Amino acid sequence: MYDKIIESNKEWIDQTWKKLDSKLSKVAIRSREKIPYTTINGVHDDRQGSQITWWTNGFWGGLMWLMYRGTDNEEYKITAQHAEELMDAAFEDVSKLHHDVGFMWHIMSGANYRLTGDKKARNRDLLAAMTLMSRYNVNGDFIRSWNGSQQTGWTIIDCMMNIPQLYWASQEIGDDRFKAIAMHYADMAMQDHVRPDGSVNHIVSHDIHTGEVIETFAGQGYAVGSTWSRGAAWALYGFVLSYIHTGKTEYLDTAKKVAHYFITNLATDNWLPLVDFRAPEQPVWYDSTAGAIAACGMIEIAKHVPEHEQKIYLTSALKVLQAMEKEFCNWNEDEDAVLMMGTERYNGEKGNHIPIIYGDFFFTEAILKLKGDDFLIW
Ligand code: GLY
Repeated sequence: MYDKIIESNKEWIDQTWKKLDSKLSKVAIRSREKIPYTTINGVHDDRQGSQITWWTNGFWGGLMWLMYRGTDNEEYKITAQHAEELMDAAFEDVSKLHHDVGFMWHIMSGANYRLTGDKKARNRDLLAAMTLMSRYNVNGDFIRSWNGSQQTGWTIIDCMMNIPQLYWASQEIGDDRFKAIAMHYADMAMQDHVRPDGSVNHIVSHDIHTGEVIETFAGQGYAVGSTWSRGAAWALYGFVLSYIHTGKTEYLDTAKKVAHYFITNLATDNWLPLVDFRAPEQPVWYDSTAGAIAACGMIEIAKHVPEHEQKIYLTSALKVLQAMEKEFCNWNEDEDAVLMMGTERYNGEKGNHIPIIYGDFFFTEAILKLKGDDFLIW
């Protein structure tokens, strides 16, 4: 079933990949000295200097590794390796690092090491994994998120995408503690972040001594109890990744439950992802990044369910990607971003309907998967 669906969409997949390569091969050279986040008048900005520890700074290098993997074009590799060197400045002040070190190094240095065997890259990914481990609260049994003194007990669903770095580190150095802590996090998220109907709490505040839930917050969503779509996408993809790394069936079942909620909401809105699935009808805010992340997760779910279930997830992934390619992609090669219409948060005054670097990363990752490449960057 999986192969049959891919075959019937092959032309679109091949054409989309060609367009990605044609544009990104130019951007790779143009933006080589930058660590981009968004664009200003079509040109990549740069998050070096005081913003070097910004959580999205690994996606540019990661995107370059995905493109290198799919094309063997050395220009992508040169830019990816250079991004990694630029990012070494982020290790200079460890007090500014946070839970997102997985996003920052596992898909950049981790990808480099797994693709080229570069030992320096391995060391960077391990340093980052150890930083993530150090955020574990033994009494509360969770990995804390942000650094603020008011946030010592906070966990966020996004962190499901950081813990693959811990699964990797366990295996790489033969130390089960990393994997154990990652699984404790996934178990906590299954219980405290994912709601019975498959929607997801963005932020949960825990008692730091017992781990008990104190309250939940809207975070980047519309309100407490609503459904921030990117948070749901982090859960969808994060749980299937935890299943792939551990074989624990409950993680796959949780990914499926979140996917069912996500797919139902996409299907009632022309397969274009709203920022929050439970926000008022107006204003209409989209978040293309949520669609791209969820599509990656759905493709992975499709690979790990029985044949008769594959169609649900693979067809849904294709539908959201194709809808976004038509409505949201910018193929103008003189501008730096591909996937437009990302949104940082529901109630933000700025950061609505902009290109965001991880939108391009996950859109590209999804197309590379659909092309049949089995490199799991996470
Ligand atoms: N991890 C933060 C976000 O998704 O915006």
